[in-house]
Amino acid sequence: DGDGGASVRRLADWDADRLRALAEEYGTPLYVDDLARVRANHARLAAAFPDAEVLFAVKANAGAHVLRALRDAGAGAECASAGELARALDAGFDPADVHYTAVNPPAEDLDYAVSVAAAHPALTVTAGARDTIERLDERGFSGRFCLRVHPGVGAGHSESVSTGKDAKFGVPADEAVEVLADADSRGFDVVGVHAHAGSGIANDQLDEHARVVATLANVARATATDLDLEFVDVGGGFGVPYHEDEAPLDLDAVAERTRDALDGVDATLTIEPGRYLVADAGVLLTEVNTVKRVSESVIAGADTGMTTLVRPAMYGSYHPIRSLVADDRPTEEVSVVGPVCESTDVLGEARDLPAPERGDLLAVGNAGAYGVEMASQYNSRPRPAVVALDGGESGVARRRETLADVTHAEDTADTYQEP
Ligand code: LLP
Repeated sequence: DGDGGASVRRLADWDADRLRALAEEYGTPLYVDDLARVRANHARLAAAFPDAEVLFAVKANAGAHVLRALRDAGAGAECASAGELARALDAGFDPADVHYTAVNPPAEDLDYAVSVAAAHPALTVTAGARDTIERLDERGFSGRFCLRVHPGVGAGHSESVSTGKDAKFGVPADEAVEVLADADSRGFDVVGVHAHAGSGIANDQLDEHARVVATLANVARATATDLDLEFVDVGGGFGVPYHEDEAPLDLDAVAERTRDALDGVDATLTIEPGRYLVADAGVLLTEVNTVKRVSESVIAGADTGMTTLVRPAMYGSYHPIRSLVADDRPTEEVSVVGPVCESTDVLGEARDLPAPERGDLLAVGNAGAYGVEMASQYNSRPRPAVVALDGGESGVARRRETLADVTHAEDTADTYQEP
């Protein structure tokens, strides 16, 4: 497509009439996931990495509608927990295309993963600690095994999502060969090595990415040839633009740097993107219910905030915000805040938006990754609905929660009144 494999769908590209109609039909707050865009993102990634196996990092958006769309498109699944593994299998992923990546796994997670591996020997289990290997061995695991390596290089949109350096993930690269031999001697079927540098890698972090891949390539080369590694999994982390003026990731450049850094290692390249596949396929719709003008600043109180989309509160992340009112109002600098009793309950600060009025519909962009997955019920706030779009069709992918969903695990669940 002549743009270096880059592509971006801006918030401005969404059809305002369609979004208004969805808010009308399903209410707000509302997540909207466009499956056509998910497929397009997958197709672009697969084209840039024609020889690679693409696993979707389920943690970014585990909705069944998203999982099925990506399964049908030919992706596999990378699962960080027993729950994600169960959801991936439920969505029909072939266990041969599924990796379970254990990070300090609770006992129940390991029990489940080992039982899945026994029933479906094609499943791959990735571990990044000697203790995890021992705990797998204690459970009689003898399936496909991949070692997570700590590359000593981090990257990503902020320190809080950098996993490659001074973090809890993986065994140090200089111990990897020995640990792989140990796994093999325990009867594990050693098939791969893995590393993940961080989340939200941008065009100016390709050196870090290349160093991570080179570290894995070195481990692969140093590993005894009789172990016969099938794949090198370089993780996910492919960034997407959140700011309107940010350039999209040059995928062809990432692919080229990856190939170069692998430097002739004879193993399949595996990548496991989450954000790249789903972020710009999702928007969050929210309605303004309160407008305040205090000294110079304008505050738009919306019907959702950090409990629905925590990234701004948690990482200081920027998400684009657009007013969907068809209007000719002058713009003002507006802070969009939610209904939670916390001052970090902010969706966006000092945004140029049409002067807000009660009842305005706002769209928050790039909400398809780490949006609904990280939503909470804090302040006893039920989580919002998710609607899936596919061409002209739309349907509820996840119904809006009620107070009963918030309290159903309590003994006293029958003593309250649904508001
Ligand atoms: N593989 C592994 C082993 C990972 O730990 C992750 C993300 C991924 C793949 C996918 O990374 P992605 O392609 O989505 O960047 N909640 C944070 C992101 C945390 C990501 C953690 N691991 C956020 O909202 O930015």
